[in-house]
Amino acid sequence: MNPYILMTAFFLSLAGLGALETMLANLQVVAWFNGLRWLRVHFVTLGVLVELVFGFLPTLVAARVNKPHPTPHWGIWFFLNAGLMILIVGIPLVNAALIFAGGTLIFLATILLLRQLSMLDPKLGAPTPGRLFYLAGLIFLSLGIIFGTGLWLGWGEFLRAAAPKEIHLHANLWGFTSLTFAGLLIDLYPGFAKRPLALPRSLDAILFLFIAGGTALVVAPWIGDNLLMLVGLLLHHAATGLLVFNVVKPLIGDRNAWNAGQVHLIAAYAWILAGLAVVPITVFGTLQVPLANVEAQAPLILVFGWVLQFAFALAPYIFARVLAPDQPAQLGGNRVSLFALNAGTLCIVAAIISETYQATFGAIAFGLWAIAILPVVRELWEHTRSIHSTFAAG
Ligand code: HEM
Repeated sequence: MNPYILMTAFFLSLAGLGALETMLANLQVVAWFNGLRWLRVHFVTLGVLVELVFGFLPTLVAARVNKPHPTPHWGIWFFLNAGLMILIVGIPLVNAALIFAGGTLIFLATILLLRQLSMLDPKLGAPTPGRLFYLAGLIFLSLGIIFGTGLWLGWGEFLRAAAPKEIHLHANLWGFTSLTFAGLLIDLYPGFAKRPLALPRSLDAILFLFIAGGTALVVAPWIGDNLLMLVGLLLHHAATGLLVFNVVKPLIGDRNAWNAGQVHLIAAYAWILAGLAVVPITVFGTLQVPLANVEAQAPLILVFGWVLQFAFALAPYIFARVLAPDQPAQLGGNRVSLFALNAGTLCIVAAIISETYQATFGAIAFGLWAIAILPVVRELWEHTRSIHSTFAAG
């Protein structure tokens, strides 16, 4: 049994409860509590995304480089989950010792995974493009963790960073998440879409553009340079556009290929492109919307519209591949998750534009996201239950 699988299903359930709690708090039915803002985002980013990829990447990379299936590294699992539990207590209390301990444990888990993946090197000349995306992504994640841990410990001033929170966001979302998702699409697309990518020769360019764009987007808020930020955005946009072209082009004209999971994947990238478009507004103030509004809401579009939506499609597929490797696997999601997740994300756009109805739109968004999570959580628990029943029957 892969121990991360259970944790991913568990944290997706908590993400649903966090969304429900946020909806009720926005409607003033229950009291807002310190830490809810952090929890609702990190149940998705650390709880679902990091658990899923930490559990799956060693298996995936080993299979790609023709090495034996690795047994789960319990040290990495322990550091990641102990760190996450400590942060869940420490962040709402704003307790410096707990935040330091939690962040350090997750940082150690990341370094150990980086070491494990770098030791799974391919035979000379064998193409394994995904692995390089994961390694680069984990380097961004370790930097993002340093800035996240230091946000309330004053490390930003020590590192002379102009905008430490932006560095944390950019390193984690536009560095780690972008690269990891790209690697997963490159490695898994031929399996779930049953066709090759449109331009396999563009993969080196995509890797380069993501690394260069991500680096510029991390350095820009560090030194407070808006022009560099724009350059980073352009590079990142170009990489994302090329990646989406690779995935969408082979599906054009084949209506059967457009199942709910595929649409989830494409819609996820529509939101990241929209999310990137919001940044010039925040940087150059071209729209008459209060900056604080955009800064408070825009991360939600990326975390729920992009990260969670991508996970809706890929998590059930990965669960099936890990738990029942001999059986056919398919992408997750259905019409309910598709409609509710994207309608919820649209409500956040409305909340950005309308200050008067911000709380109401926020409540509707989180209510819809809680509904969207239900079918996918059910799918994940069914996968874990079916493997348990197989063991019990056997
Ligand atoms: C050890 C790991 C991490 C720590 C200690 C950490 C810490 C923090 C802190 C202290 C904040 C500021 C919260 C606030 O302003 O109220 C924050 C915000 C945020 N973090 Fe993290 N984080 C971690 C990992 C991640 C990861 C892996 C991602 C994404 C892949 C991520 C994405 C975000 C986002 C999107 C926000 C903005 C939330 C908002 O403004 O509502 N974090 N994080």
